[in-house]
Amino acid sequence: MLDSLRPQVLSILNEKSKSVDTRLGEICELLKSNVPYYDWVGFYFKNGDKQELKLGPYAGAPTDHTIIPFGKGICGQVALSNQNFVVPDVSAQDNYIACSITVKAEIVVPLFVNGENVGQIDIDSNTPDPFTAEDERFLEFINQEVAKIL
Ligand code: SME
Repeated sequence: MLDSLRPQVLSILNEKSKSVDTRLGEICELLKSNVPYYDWVGFYFKNGDKQELKLGPYAGAPTDHTIIPFGKGICGQVALSNQNFVVPDVSAQDNYIACSITVKAEIVVPLFVNGENVGQIDIDSNTPDPFTAEDERFLEFINQEVAKIL
């Protein structure tokens, strides 16, 4: 099911007449509207030389958390760990930044350019424990393809 979206991901990223942010926003909308348990989809990127993440394109409700210091929340931890972080139950996490009370689970996958962790894709779900290895492989694929246009 997720893999069937890969061709659309590639065609969006290939729309060279559009800005990178526009294309990333379209990826977020594609995922949010096609995957029933993806309720908020966004990209965060390292904010210049600062040890913090800045919100990039996203689909879903606006969030107050447009800047996240490295180490804070799930996103800030991934900025330091360089590892995927799958959270089946956000209420079981001490170091978690709540964006909406409806969110039950979260997945964050780092985005590497030339081996450097420059950002991440972050997905919130209102469904408990929805993410599998298939989501991880799919989101890794997206980030690898996004890295080619950054
Ligand atoms: N929950 C995230 C914050 C970002 S929002 O989900 C959009 C975290 O703990 O880092």
